[in-house]
Amino acid sequence: MKTGALLRFYIDNRKYLPGIVLIVGLSLCSGMLKMLSAAYWGRSLDYGVAGLTQEMLTAAGMMAFFILLDCARTALHYRIIGRITEDMFLGVRVRAFQKLCRASLPDLEQGFRTGDVAARLGGDIDFLSNFSAGHISNFSRVLFSGVFSLTACIFISWQLSIAYLILLPVSLWVVGAISRPIQEQGKRSMDHTGAAMSTAAGAVSGALTVKAFAAEEALCQRFNKAADEAYSQKVRSEKLGMKMTAVKYIATVAQTMSLFLLGSWLVSSGRLTVGGFVSFVALSGYITDCLSQSDYMFKSIRNASASAQRYYEVLDIPDEPTGPVCQPIGGAPAPCAAQNLGFAYSLGGRPVLDGLTLSIPAGKKVAVVGASGCGKSTLIKLICRLHLPLSGSLTLFGAQAEEWAPEKLRAHISLVTQDPCLFGGSFYDNVALGRPGATRAQCEAALRSVRLWDFVCTFPEGMDHPIGEGGQNLSGGQKQRLCIARAMVKQAPLVLLDEPTSALDMQTEREVQQALDRLLEGRSAVIIAHRLSTVQGADYIYVLEKGRVAEEGSPQALLSQRGRYYEMCRLQGLEVGP
Ligand SMILES: Nc1ncnc2c1ncn2[C@@H]1O[C@H](COP(=O)(O)OP(=O)(O)O)[C@@H](O)[C@H]1O
Ligand SMILES: [Mg+2]
Repeated sequence: MKTGALLRFYIDNRKYLPGIVLIVGLSLCSGMLKMLSAAYWGRSLDYGVAGLTQEMLTAAGMMAFFILLDCARTALHYRIIGRITEDMFLGVRVRAFQKLCRASLPDLEQGFRTGDVAARLGGDIDFLSNFSAGHISNFSRVLFSGVFSLTACIFISWQLSIAYLILLPVSLWVVGAISRPIQEQGKRSMDHTGAAMSTAAGAVSGALTVKAFAAEEALCQRFNKAADEAYSQKVRSEKLGMKMTAVKYIATVAQTMSLFLLGSWLVSSGRLTVGGFVSFVALSGYITDCLSQSDYMFKSIRNASASAQRYYEVLDIPDEPTGPVCQPIGGAPAPCAAQNLGFAYSLGGRPVLDGLTLSIPAGKKVAVVGASGCGKSTLIKLICRLHLPLSGSLTLFGAQAEEWAPEKLRAHISLVTQDPCLFGGSFYDNVALGRPGATRAQCEAALRSVRLWDFVCTFPEGMDHPIGEGGQNLSGGQKQRLCIARAMVKQAPLVLLDEPTSALDMQTEREVQQALDRLLEGRSAVIIAHRLSTVQGADYIYVLEKGRVAEEGSPQALLSQRGRYYEMCRLQGLEVGP
């Protein structure tokens, strides 16, 4: 069992240690209180049998006192556990999330799938927090109660204790061996139920495709098959369960009977008092609990170690590399200039950019075109410093890419991509994300500028209207215009457009294009577009092929050159002149 990560987790979260020690201390109290109340119960019985009423009542009073004390302990215990679990869950989760935000894009892209990150931020940390307070409390309570009870039992009657310690593991083993096949059957039934549920989820989320392909019948059959299988496994497991319950019952009764027979013999032969026997029976329950839960305790420690390991895989992602430059160097430098730039996604891998040389002069709109996969989006990622160049140089606002502090550089860049990336929250939340401290007036101006204001005003809450997860309540064009509004409030001098209209129909494209034109006014821009009609107004065009510039010039020059660009325009049915 790898407990290194778990140990590290506790060292990192040592501020909760006093609370955890308190929890364990209270568990110790619980064990002692249980032992004392059982002892006084036996004693009061013995006094009662001997006819000593006064002493019997005193002992019963003591028993009640210890039971009440244990109740108070339980309340305090739950309060502290709840507090620590919630504090820890919040603190640890925030740390993991901050780490994810600071991690570099390549590390994120290589290491994690979306669902996996959700599991690590949710399930794993939830389990760790619960384990640290709730489980530890439960386990230490059961353990202390078991140890104290065993000590007391040995004092009450060592003969009965030995018999009990021989009988208990045997009956636990029998019960365990019996439950295993039932658990396996249950798991198989759950697997089939899971398959049925995922078919149902797919049928709902993909309703459009299901109907379009008339796949209802096929999906129903798949659902029925999985549900049938789950049902028959369940029936089988219940039948098995019924048979096994009988055997389990016999095993438990046999153990109890043997103990009672031996106990009665010890009482009748004067080696044990009636009260002692009753105390013994009461205390032996805690020993049974302790042994029967040991398996679960080890399993929980194993699970917590695995969760801690997964948590540290997130926490150990290195921070994005940074540099000393915090602002543009030397007056109003060109936003971007690449010289013989080379880049590959993996070390020694196929070069995606291979000796690329281009320049984006201040205030100019430069288009980058080329076949799919030629490295256009990769260039955008390099300009955003999401990846660093492998060879050659990339100068951004007068300083080398690697010399920039990433967040300072990105303050000068606005990006609009093909897939509109929106977040849950309102129109305002999404637009204001463009610039820290953006005012409502600035957001309104941006929304007006992209012609979304009238639409926003149709909602009673206006800008505060929630747009649904990922903007699911909006149309494709509205989503994209909202992204443009976000880029607008940023007021960055360099705008990067990575095929922002290629997923839209012609009419919507025109609306979005108008918004884009307004965003580009007075700014430098790199425009990547699939539809060449949208780049004809650019100041300069680079045609990329296999990661390098194959052709460059103004749109008119390239058309008259009758090279690659001319050919691409012709294929798209554009007016290319005589
Ligand atoms: N994250 C990535 N990891 C590895 N390879 C990638 C990654 N992103 C893109 N590529 C590869 O790099 C090449 C260029 O991709 P990209 O820059 O997206 O092309 P374009 O935008 O011109 O269509 C493609 O062959 C693509 O498969
Ligand atoms: Mg691309």
